Amino acid sequence: MRIRTNTYSIYGIQTKRTFNDVMQYSQLLKLFEDELKGIYWAEKVLAKTLIRLIKNATSAQLIDTLKINLEETIIHVIRLEDVFKSLDKTPVTKKCESLEVLIKETGEIIDSCEEGAMCDAAIISATQKIEHHEIAAYTTLCRFAETLDLEVAFTLLNTTLTEEKTADEQLSNLSIGTINLELAE
Ligand SMILES: [Fe+2]
Repeated sequence: MRIRTNTYSIYGIQTKRTFNDVMQYSQLLKLFEDELKGIYWAEKVLAKTLIRLIKNATSAQLIDTLKINLEETIIHVIRLEDVFKSLDKTPVTKKCESLEVLIKETGEIIDSCEEGAMCDAAIISATQKIEHHEIAAYTTLCRFAETLDLEVAFTLLNTTLTEEKTADEQLSNLSIGTINLELAE
């Protein structure tokens, strides 16, 4: 069978691919954009959640970590807008159902525990669950961007992925400290 090769334009880039290649590329691109909208929604909602968590945390160290996390989350929102721009797309949000569940759970934790070390431990646990969700989302987005040859998008997303991993490590260290403190009391 003779494979038909043609020149196609994707995001203004002329590329020579088979018809099947182009079909797969555009399907993956659609998936990439959907994931992008989901994490854009998540980062925006997360910024509001972090403000709530900061108000309810007791440990100065945890408050500082959450404040850094909030600053980074705002940067992540701006960075995602840059990713949309690199694709010539207007930034659009799409509700991320799985993260919505985690955020709801976080709200319930805050409502049900009194301020103090145990509440701090619960905040760390809830924040880390969200962080793991973000790491999974950004890892997938990076792989998609790489496969789609979207260099600018990949660099931006990979920078955020590195920051998410660092934030997770900081929360893990804090978690050990907080739990030890609680057991010692
Ligand atoms: Fe983030």
